[in-house]
Amino acid sequence: MMKMKKVISTISTTSRIKTIEYAIRDVVAIAKKLEQKGKTITYLSIGDPPKYDFDTPQHVKDALVRAVNEGHNLYEDSLGVPELREAIAERAKKYKIPITKEDILITTGVSEGIYFILAALIEKGSEFLIPGPSYPPWLSYTKFFDGDPIEYKLDEEDNWQPDIDNLRQNITERTRGILILSPNNPVGVLYSEKHLKNIVDLAGEYQLPIITDEIYDQFVYEKKFVSIASLSKDVPVIGLNGFSKAYLMTGWRLGYLYYRDPEHYLDDIKEDIKRMARIRLCAPGPQQIAAIAALRGPQDHIPKMIAKLRQRRDYTCKRLNELDQIECKVPEGAFYAFPKINMGTRWKDDKEFIIELLKTKQVLFVYGSGFGAKYGAGHFRVVYLAPLPVLEEAFDKVEDFLRK
Ligand SMILES: Cc1ncc(COP(=O)(O)O)c(C=O)c1O
Repeated sequence: MMKMKKVISTISTTSRIKTIEYAIRDVVAIAKKLEQKGKTITYLSIGDPPKYDFDTPQHVKDALVRAVNEGHNLYEDSLGVPELREAIAERAKKYKIPITKEDILITTGVSEGIYFILAALIEKGSEFLIPGPSYPPWLSYTKFFDGDPIEYKLDEEDNWQPDIDNLRQNITERTRGILILSPNNPVGVLYSEKHLKNIVDLAGEYQLPIITDEIYDQFVYEKKFVSIASLSKDVPVIGLNGFSKAYLMTGWRLGYLYYRDPEHYLDDIKEDIKRMARIRLCAPGPQQIAAIAALRGPQDHIPKMIAKLRQRRDYTCKRLNELDQIECKVPEGAFYAFPKINMGTRWKDDKEFIIELLKTKQVLFVYGSGFGAKYGAGHFRVVYLAPLPVLEEAFDKVEDFLRK
């Protein structure tokens, strides 16, 4: 057998994989090093409700245990368990999205849905219109498939509503789709119905599909969530949603895609994504059975969770807006705030600010440019899932840090 001679230091990797970045977890690596040195870190950086005082509803946990004990431990249909797909189609009626189980595909989290959609739409030279700022995998996976993520402006002065003129200006013959992320991670905006209708008109004019990531649809405070798929008429829409946040199942890895496409513009994409789904066999089985119970069982944990989060949001914005160097718009949905920092000459950029704050005060947020350099720079993202006393202590530390 030939023995490998050590002439290179490491095996080289592809330029494709080097495009993958995820600021949300990258900063955690720095915090872990500090923990190894004995520091205690307050994490206000990851949108994982079960990490804080929110727990998966008991009837959903029981359904999972039952599913395992009753033998649902095998590969399921690649498209997903039919009864779950039916339950999702029923739920969609609540938002006036007319779809059937044939329009639904179960995925291993919304994350896998993002991967599937971009694999089908993006190749070298493609452009994909993404709100700036936006959830990082939409940017990273577009690059991974050799495309260019093009950020359209969410206007901070307009409480982060999308700037429709800017969106229009960014459409070219290479554009492959428009992403809607509402309620948005990281800025928390809920796109108004007027803006959604404008986007439908624009997509219709340029014959572009709309992709809508609706994972925070139940996380709204004053206003109601409206799905663009209920307004889209003949414009094709691909929606993504999942169980991670609303049903507190982040670790269970379960989500879904749906297609709202009365004119059949998406038939090819739908078939190609089905083949992608077959190659990875199926989404987690027992979780799919439990998800049926999640959708059809009691929903009372949701208003309780929203009431707690609303208090935490209000407290977060109040504390941040009391600081001279910080300005924070009040988010309408999700559980993130995205304040702007006036850094003066003290810090080079938002990343340096966040790392220095972590090292001196052991509080971790994510730097804004991790959500898209163009519109995220000069900001940071706060996850306000933590209980009030934790938030209070963290903001006392931020205040102290800024004063020095
Ligand atoms: C906007 C958005 N989409 C998708 C995801 C990932 O969802 P999942 O846990 O279903 O993969 C997240 C997670 O934070 C998110 O914020």
